[in-house]
Amino acid sequence: MAKHMMTNHFDEAKALDDTYVMHTYGRLPVEFVSGSGAELTDSTGKVYLDFLAGIGCASLGHADPVVAAAIKSQLDRVWQVGNYYYVEHRGELAQAISELLSTITDEEGHAMGSTGTLWKTFFANSGAEANEGALKVARRWGEKKLGGASGIITARQSFHGRTLATLAATGQDVFHKSFGPFPDGFTSVALNDLDALAAAVEAGGACAIMLECVQGEGGVWPAELSYLQDVRDLCDEHGLALIVDEVQTGFFRCGAPFAFQMAGIEPDIVSMAKGIASGFPTGAVAARAELADLMVPGDHGSTFGGNALAAAAGLATVTELVQRNMGEHVIATGQHLAERLAELPHVTEVRGRGLMRGIQLDVPIATPLVDEGLKAGLVLNHIGDSILRFLPPLVVTEQQIDTMAEHLAMLIEQLA
Ligand SMILES: Cc1ncc(COP(=O)(O)O)c(C=O)c1O
Repeated sequence: MAKHMMTNHFDEAKALDDTYVMHTYGRLPVEFVSGSGAELTDSTGKVYLDFLAGIGCASLGHADPVVAAAIKSQLDRVWQVGNYYYVEHRGELAQAISELLSTITDEEGHAMGSTGTLWKTFFANSGAEANEGALKVARRWGEKKLGGASGIITARQSFHGRTLATLAATGQDVFHKSFGPFPDGFTSVALNDLDALAAAVEAGGACAIMLECVQGEGGVWPAELSYLQDVRDLCDEHGLALIVDEVQTGFFRCGAPFAFQMAGIEPDIVSMAKGIASGFPTGAVAARAELADLMVPGDHGSTFGGNALAAAAGLATVTELVQRNMGEHVIATGQHLAERLAELPHVTEVRGRGLMRGIQLDVPIATPLVDEGLKAGLVLNHIGDSILRFLPPLVVTEQQIDTMAEHLAMLIEQLA
């Protein structure tokens, strides 16, 4: 009886959503109503192992009690006052971000020290907004230091968001078919091709290079660490700002606090979102003080950005990530995940870093794998026909990875 009623609840929820919500996503037939750690529960009570984490957001796992307590405590005081005022926790969160951004790590992501750099943050609400801010800081740099240069060079297969400027920055033609005209000044070159990048810089007019250290939405394609070092050198040679989009890779997703640290470089501008507040909607862009100080009152803003709830959620998340030594956990479990994925049938390549992994399949079964995975209690994600992407909550255990891998191996055998 209870089950019957709950099934009706899902049908009703689906009908309402299908009728009244814009169809900008192909939706899977499930409504998740609760979660804990790397598990999600749907409206019928079925439990799933989650290898997507709300698209890379629930860094501490679903409904983490410490973050929940911080939000609840703030909820009873004040939510939104606007950026004309000081907001509790916002400064502390920005300081914590500055310290994380200054971390020196080795190539695997183990923390080794601090650069001592001062980073200043602007708070937004999403990754795309964070990147909009990054682009504005870079163009201000071009205006003040590079004689008005405004061009932004990005990478093919990149993804930077869904606003018009971030779509223009996104180096995938499929995103440029409609909704034009886009803002001018964007060009993209193949990732890991230094000659192509150098030629684009030599062509003149650029103020910045913008990259993801591991391209997420484009199919989990890592930038080589030596390439990132060369890009830094190229920027230094020409005075360009280096923007690193850490929206997906940041906050220990790849092991290091931020993925650029594994290359031993320091960017000028870093955008972030997803994992920053363990799923509470927040975005941010940080810049080294030299660039950040070029932005003055009136240059940029956001009504909700850095609101009291987001600041509380972000500060609790970042504090917990550091206190729980999440980087070391991600390095170990990320390695385990990569090994288990490499053993799967029909996998020709495992890509990525830490707990951001992609597998290339030699059969085009990625979509049915996601559908069948859901039926089997696995939340999976595909990019195109033959890539699966894994972004579990960072608290995922080796045992949960083993369970997922065993189920996935069977599903691949069935569908291939
Ligand atoms: C690297 C990167 N940048 C930007 C974005 C856009 O973030 P949002 O969807 O929060 O606007 C994403 C989203 O997937 C992303 O992966």
